Amino acid sequence: MTSPRVDEKAAGTAPADNAPRPIDDSPQKFDQRSIYDRRYSEDGYDNRSAVRVLRAEEQALRSSALRALRRCTGEWFTILDFGYGTGRVTNEFIEGYSSLCQEKGFRKNLRVIAYDVSSVGLQKAHRRLVEEQHFTPVHELEIKSDHSSGYVMGSVKKKANGIELQIILVHANEEESTQRMTELVLSVNGDRPVDLTTSWYSGIGHVTGHDRRESYFTALGRTTRSRGELLIAVSATGDLDQEQEEWDRRRDDRKILGMPVPDAGDVIYLTELDQKNYWHVFSDDLAELLKGICGRKQSFWLEAIRFPGEEFSSRDDERPNFEQVCEFNRKLNCRKWPRPYLFPRKLRGRKWRSEHFRSCHTVAAIRSGSRRRKPTDFWYREPSRSWMSLVPNVLRFGRSGAPRIIPTAPASISEISLDTTPGTR
Ligand SMILES: C[S@@+](CC[C@H](N)C(=O)[O-])C[C@H]1O[C@@H](n2cnc3c(N)ncnc32)[C@H](O)[C@@H]1O
Repeated sequence: MTSPRVDEKAAGTAPADNAPRPIDDSPQKFDQRSIYDRRYSEDGYDNRSAVRVLRAEEQALRSSALRALRRCTGEWFTILDFGYGTGRVTNEFIEGYSSLCQEKGFRKNLRVIAYDVSSVGLQKAHRRLVEEQHFTPVHELEIKSDHSSGYVMGSVKKKANGIELQIILVHANEEESTQRMTELVLSVNGDRPVDLTTSWYSGIGHVTGHDRRESYFTALGRTTRSRGELLIAVSATGDLDQEQEEWDRRRDDRKILGMPVPDAGDVIYLTELDQKNYWHVFSDDLAELLKGICGRKQSFWLEAIRFPGEEFSSRDDERPNFEQVCEFNRKLNCRKWPRPYLFPRKLRGRKWRSEHFRSCHTVAAIRSGSRRRKPTDFWYREPSRSWMSLVPNVLRFGRSGAPRIIPTAPASISEISLDTTPGTR
């Protein structure tokens, strides 16, 4: 498989092999605004893969949006994209939104709140939206370089098939309290929570400390309607395994000095521009965070988005990874018992164990205002020729039995060629 990052290698910005480069552990603060302003001012980060939006991302967003649209009561369908960057996933959805409405019989205008700490990313997105997607700027972009509080940087709009599309760019300040983030988002949305919150390759992974990540989850939970949808896609422990090993070792040897990496899953990596950056890869803590923001009458579950492996060089190259993801989700997200009907605020599908997280590169944490189960859940059977496949799961495993269906592909972690080239997150 050819890596699309050959240019970086040729330019000498990436190492010749896959080994992580040595990182000194002098104390440092990781200011995401300046790190991402530099990354977005060049093209390496934004064009890191030949496949800009993964099929699994597209599908997860479409499904969440349809569930949220069905329960949207206002004239406007509203989305918050936390850590929007240049709108990699969301902009494609916006482009297809009016057709989706026509196909499914909805008639709702769309407002997207694009929330990010990087003004360069937002400006780049603004330029593309105007030049390539033919949006009209509502007013001139206002860029505050020393803002102490998040503010609306600008907005664009257009009409497609009679549906109004509006994108509001919000330049955030990462130093601010998460309470302020909630207030800002609500005020931008006319003091109402949004119908759908998304976060792709989520900026939450750059938030240091479990407590602060928890308070971001809580804030995002509050900015989203209780009957709406929340989808946060983060890196899981199948990503950056060499960095994890190194930082686990350093933690054991107490060699982390001033680095903010006290928890398992905390790593420091080098970007494609050789910047040191902090990243957290999630495991069981993701399920706990998600459960913590799930209220009565809501359900929650996890979905694999990407398996480990090199960046994709073409759409065809991505397909096997997508198929593995589908198979994995189908097996794990079947339910043995229709619990959400019996008890509100319950996990849909099976409980993920640490090894499930270790077999995924990216995982989406989903909270849904809908308790409807998928028709296949309860009677799901493993595809097998054995007579056992005719017996419903509930009879085979009981209500509380540990999941017996372990993902078959990839068969073992060692079989996966891991992408440890710096600069992808
Ligand atoms: C890994 S990038 C993902 C960007 C984009 N969603 C994508 O999928 O390509 C993380 C993004 O989160 C943003 N970010 C980091 N910390 C943030 C924070 N505290 N608040 C808002 N955005 C943040 C970064 O500027 C960056 O654009």
